[in-house]
Amino acid sequence: MTNDAILKKVKADFDLSTNALREMVGAFHDEMRLGLESQVSSLKMLPTFVDRASGDERGRFLALDLGGTNFRVLQVQLGSGGQVKVEHVGKYIIPRAVMRGTGEQLFNFIAQSIDTFLVDSRIGYDEKRDLGFTFSFPMKQTDIVNGILINWTKDFSASGVVGKNVTKLLIAALKRQGIDSVEIAALANDTVGTMVARSYQDQDCDVGIIFGTGTNACYREPSTETIVNIEWGNFNKLPLNRYDVKHDKASGNPGKQVMEKMISGMYLGGLVQLVLSDLIQTRLMFKNRRAKFSKGVFTTTRMSQVESDTSRKLTKVEDYLDSIGIIDSALAERALLQRICELVSRRAMRISAAAMSAVVTWMDPELKDNHTVAIDGTLYERYPGFKKTILATLTQLHGKDAGKIKLVHTKDGSGIGVAVVAAVAAHA
Ligand code: GLC
Repeated sequence: MTNDAILKKVKADFDLSTNALREMVGAFHDEMRLGLESQVSSLKMLPTFVDRASGDERGRFLALDLGGTNFRVLQVQLGSGGQVKVEHVGKYIIPRAVMRGTGEQLFNFIAQSIDTFLVDSRIGYDEKRDLGFTFSFPMKQTDIVNGILINWTKDFSASGVVGKNVTKLLIAALKRQGIDSVEIAALANDTVGTMVARSYQDQDCDVGIIFGTGTNACYREPSTETIVNIEWGNFNKLPLNRYDVKHDKASGNPGKQVMEKMISGMYLGGLVQLVLSDLIQTRLMFKNRRAKFSKGVFTTTRMSQVESDTSRKLTKVEDYLDSIGIIDSALAERALLQRICELVSRRAMRISAAAMSAVVTWMDPELKDNHTVAIDGTLYERYPGFKKTILATLTQLHGKDAGKIKLVHTKDGSGIGVAVVAAVAAHA
C-alpha cells in the first residue's frame, strides 16, 4: 500500500464532514435540554450558583486550582476598574500516588501545599484570607461554597471522595494542618472561573471553555440567568471509529468522557498511538524496523512537536524517531506520521468548534448578539493551529455570522476567576 493509500484509510476514519458537525450540534442541543430537565443525558448541566462579576469587586484573595497537571495556589488582588493582579503563584506537582491514593492523602497534600505557599510568599497566618477553590471535576453544588463530587475524571481516582462535600474535606484538612487564617468563600469549576475572569472586564462574555488535560464548558443559561457547568467532556452522541472504541475500552473510565477522549490533552496522544501501532502491526508503516509504540509512549505534547516541525526534511521528527529506535526513517514516513497527527488533532478541533457552536446557538439561535468565549488550557494555548481551525470551522457552520463569536484566551482564568467569585460571595 502506498503512503497515500494509507493516509486515505486513516482519513476515512477521522474525517468529520461539516454536515456531521451540524448533526452533532442538533444532538448536543437535545442532550442539553434533557440535562436541564434532569432527564437521562450524557450532559450533566450542573447549576453553579455563580453569576457574572460586576467588575466592582475589590481586595486580596487566595485561589486554589485543582484538576490539571499541577496543583496551584495563587494570591490575587482585585483593584479598581476590573484590574486583576496575580501577586503570588505556587505550583505543586501532585504525585500520581496521591492522585490515586486516599482522599485524606489528597486533601492533606493540598493543605500542606497551602501551608508552604503561605510561608514562601510571606503571607503568613496573621491576616485572614478568603479563598476561592477551583475544583475541576463534576460536582453537585448546593450553594456557592459547598459541592459534592459526582465522579472523578481525568487521572484522579482518590478513594472516599465521590459523594462527599469537597469543601468539608478541605476544611478538615486545613484544620489538621493547623491553618485557621483561611476561610473558604467559594467553590467553582475551572470553566466557571475562566468565564468569570473574562466577564470581570467584558460583559459580552457568556461562555467559558477549558481545552487542557480535560475539556469542558460552562455558559450563562438565559432561562435562569445563572451559569451552568455543562461537563461536555462526557457528551457521547458522536460517531466513533474503531480506534475510539479501543481507546475508550482501554481507558480507566470506559463509556465515560467520550468526547473528552476525542479532544483533550490527556487522551489525543493515546489515540494516535493506537493508529500507529495498528499500522506497524499490519506492516504498513516503519516496515523492517522493530518499531513499537507502546501505551503511554506517544503523548499529546509529542504530537504537537511533530506537527510544529516545519523543516523541509522534518528533522525534528527524524530526531524523535531516532530516539525511540526507528533509525533511518524515510522522509515520506515522517511526513505520513505528521499527517496522521494532523488528522487526529484536526478532528479534535472541529468537534471543539461544533460543541462551541452548539452552546452559543443554544443561547442565541440566530446569532443576533456578540458572544465572547473565554478559553484557557494548554492545548488551546500551545497546540499548533487550534484557534485557527476552530475559527475556520465556525465559519463553515455559520458563514459571516461566525464573526459574532469572539474567542479570547483567558490565561490563568480558573485561578483569577475563582478569586472574583470568592470576592462576590464574601461581600454578598
Ligand atoms: C474534566 C472535568 C471538568 C473540567 C475539565 C477541564 O472534563 O470533568 O470538570 O472542567 O476536565 O479541566
